[in-house]
Amino acid sequence: MHLPSYKEAKKREKKPYQTKDYQLEESLNKYHNKTYCLKTYGCQMNEHDSENIKAMLEEMGFKEEEDYEKADLILLNTCSIRENAHNKAFGMLGRVKHLKEQRKDLIVGLCGCMAQEEGVVAEIREKYKWLNFVFGTHNLYDLPTVLEKAITEERQAIEVYSTDLDIIENTPVVRDKTYKAYVNIIYGCNKFCTYCIVPYTRGSERSRKKEDILKEIDNLIEKGYQEVTLLGQNVNAYGKDLYENYGLGELLEDIANKKIPRIRFVTSHPWDFTDRMIEVIGKYENIMPSVHLPVQSGSSSILKKMGRRYSKESYLELFDKLKKVRPNIAISTDIIVGFPGESEEDFQDTLDLVEYCKYDNAFTFIYSPRENTPAAKLKDDVLLEEKEKRLYRLNEIVNKYFKDNNEKLVGKIENVLVEGTSPKKKEMYFGYTETNKLVNFTGKDIKVGTIIPVKITDAKTWSLDGEYNDK
Ligand code: SAH
Ligand code: SF4
Ligand code: F3S
Repeated sequence: MHLPSYKEAKKREKKPYQTKDYQLEESLNKYHNKTYCLKTYGCQMNEHDSENIKAMLEEMGFKEEEDYEKADLILLNTCSIRENAHNKAFGMLGRVKHLKEQRKDLIVGLCGCMAQEEGVVAEIREKYKWLNFVFGTHNLYDLPTVLEKAITEERQAIEVYSTDLDIIENTPVVRDKTYKAYVNIIYGCNKFCTYCIVPYTRGSERSRKKEDILKEIDNLIEKGYQEVTLLGQNVNAYGKDLYENYGLGELLEDIANKKIPRIRFVTSHPWDFTDRMIEVIGKYENIMPSVHLPVQSGSSSILKKMGRRYSKESYLELFDKLKKVRPNIAISTDIIVGFPGESEEDFQDTLDLVEYCKYDNAFTFIYSPRENTPAAKLKDDVLLEEKEKRLYRLNEIVNKYFKDNNEKLVGKIENVLVEGTSPKKKEMYFGYTETNKLVNFTGKDIKVGTIIPVKITDAKTWSLDGEYNDK
């Protein structure tokens, strides 16, 4: 048994990482008459981890069963970012408990970021003794052995490490889509924003070797993939731990030269955004004109308390540079309201910033104290009612700009990567523009996974309407 430790998780040691290849022990490929249901919570990183988890389970013989009530194995890939993410996972565990009472042979596991939390694992050991196994983000690849242990030894198996281990390459993957793919480029986060739990759940910043990333992308291109999204908690830090002169700018350039039609990357911390990256974004058409640039707050004093290491002014300078280098660029953001000590004036600074940036998309949250983070120890004198009001006021403004920006596209022709048909109407399709806007459009005999021109006919707050422009 290995339990999570925040003390360990906080350490950042400069050490070279080993790269190892994944391999399933032959003897574990034996669950051919069993099914699994995997529930995923959280960010793109978890979604991509789930694509690896599915493939590992399928190599063991398991088949996917979407209805969790029918599956032999239920696995929750969890998220710790805010209290409501916890509530969702614990709510699901509540439902699963009833099933487990009826079917003793049901196997239930939990992984992902919540598995890295001391408090969560303590609660599982005390109140969820029926849960069969837990493994963490650093040993995702131990899934087969931990699962096997839980089944054969018939006791709760908890295997969570708090320091990052090797980087594992060549893990099997069952990708959700055949035309767009996630590609990890860097794991972990060293930023330690004071409100955030991720540096404790995902460990140190560790870049994958550029050769491994480029090889994965070559494979995707060969299979006909149209779009790749490079993933990391802070992709801008890519390469710093490995190379002297090779960072995200260089990596983007190398990928852009491969002629894959669409390249995206998330998430960029404004702090590490270099002029080299901006130059490359300006130079290559296949780097999509869409950047997620989380601001968190428009108040420099709150930004300081958050440990974000940029001011309102330096953020806006970066914002302007990006708009200048790619005039049609869509910038989206994340904003937290109600951070401890946020005054009405601080909040007003956030509203002013939003009025200036007129974001194309924004994810807005009420601050949620997270176990063991520095901000959780700050005195919080903003009432929840006030925080809710601020969120409402903020959303009114961001929504107005989503719609305004969408309206500017009416009458224009946009390239859209087609993702599917509407469940209601057969001749209604949907897909995403280069700026990552959802378009519902009419057309006939269009292939999913192709990029086609669509004429925009109407704008809504969160989507556009259009028609296939086959002229
Ligand atoms: N690495 C990314 C953010 C990943 S978490 C970055 O730094 O930009 C996604 C978003 O969740 C954050 O941008 C932040 O807005 C929000 N978030 C993180 N911790 C939070 C907390 N404790 N309470 C509320 N929102 C939080
Ligand atoms: Fe969290 Fe900050 Fe790291 Fe983003 S950069 S994951 S907000 S600590
Ligand atoms: Fe959640 Fe972990 Fe992602 S906390 S947001 S799943 S890195």
